Amino acid sequence: MNIQEIIAKKRDKLELTKEEIDYFIKGYTEGTITDYQASALIMAIYINGMNYRETTDLTLAIAFSGDVLNLSTLGEVVDKHSTGGVGDKITLILMPIIASLGIPVAKMSGRGLGFTGGTIDKLESIPGYNTSITIDEFIENVRKVGISLMGQTLNLAPADKKIYALRDAIACTESIPLIASSIMSKKIAAGANKIVIDVTCGSGAFMKTKEDAEKLAEIMTSIGKLAGKETVCIITPMDEPVGYAIGNILEVIEAVDILKNKYMPKDVKSIIEELGANMLVLANKVSNIEDGKKLIIENIQNGKAYQKLLELVKNQGGDISYIENTDKFEKAKYIVPILVTEEGTIAKLDALNIGKLSCYLGAGREKKEDSINPRVGFVFNKKVGDTVKTGEVIGYIHSDDEEKAKEILQQEIVTIK
Ligand code: URA
Repeated sequence: MNIQEIIAKKRDKLELTKEEIDYFIKGYTEGTITDYQASALIMAIYINGMNYRETTDLTLAIAFSGDVLNLSTLGEVVDKHSTGGVGDKITLILMPIIASLGIPVAKMSGRGLGFTGGTIDKLESIPGYNTSITIDEFIENVRKVGISLMGQTLNLAPADKKIYALRDAIACTESIPLIASSIMSKKIAAGANKIVIDVTCGSGAFMKTKEDAEKLAEIMTSIGKLAGKETVCIITPMDEPVGYAIGNILEVIEAVDILKNKYMPKDVKSIIEELGANMLVLANKVSNIEDGKKLIIENIQNGKAYQKLLELVKNQGGDISYIENTDKFEKAKYIVPILVTEEGTIAKLDALNIGKLSCYLGAGREKKEDSINPRVGFVFNKKVGDTVKTGEVIGYIHSDDEEKAKEILQQEIVTIK
């Protein structure tokens, strides 16, 4: 068997065997298959797809490319993952809530991918927060404070770490088999046996249509079942950015403000209620979704979720004075208002374009080795459906480069009707 033949088979739209998929994942993890060969195969998979059997084999090969944790000693661990989106800071808000309700949270998150942000990049914008911990520290953190959020630095699904970064750099993000195998391999390796997945759908998501989102949900649910993990997929809208902030520090500040109960964007409320309640049902904390939704909101209002966030950050080496006083976070050099030129109702805040422009400002990566600028992005003060007057400020561009901010002001990111 050799990699050229495997690439040629997928290029020619043929089905790969389990042995061929295992050979690719092993070789790429160990470095005997190069980035350019892996790029060719990933691109062929992106273009020609994979059937259900191939996707399942790919998921299992990636999951077992490194260690597989067993978290059964921690109790009923429920994990959550999102297929990604613009302004998606749900993990930062929801996981402290879940932990504050006594359910252990042990979650491995990812970095930004394509035009979407990643939880690890956001957490790393908190000074001192360490996302690269050992397995023992990860488990000990969960034991001690009930929550740990870490990156893919452990030997968990190492093949996904490489493929994920590669996909980002070669424009191969929006693919059902690649997303399903990336997410489910991480979930299998990270050890929780109950999983809730937020399958985002819309312009700011990888799945643009309801049909594709349903297909992705179906395949992830069945892979979960096969791996003995109860998996619930929830399709959520992603046509406008989630909440008001987009960009790493900006989203951390928004998540903290929400947990401090300062304000609650409508879309964030409905996503955390829906995902959170399903997690609580899976963990047998409540017997129905409505009771779960109440608990989710209650633990924001009584301050318990915010306290849990402080414990998480402190325990993972982060400086909690930034959480207590978010004014301490570094700011971009230029904070430029976005003014509307007409009166009416906001019909569209284009999540895809806003995500791409955030990356252009430096919030995402062009090459996998690139570092991100945590300060830049957007903060809006309006959502779709809000009315605006001519000349009103509907948000701000946070940029370290004045010219880029001016260029963005020429783009159509908001549609008013
Ligand atoms: N999240 C992941 O972990 N992988 C993807 O491919 C997309 C979102």
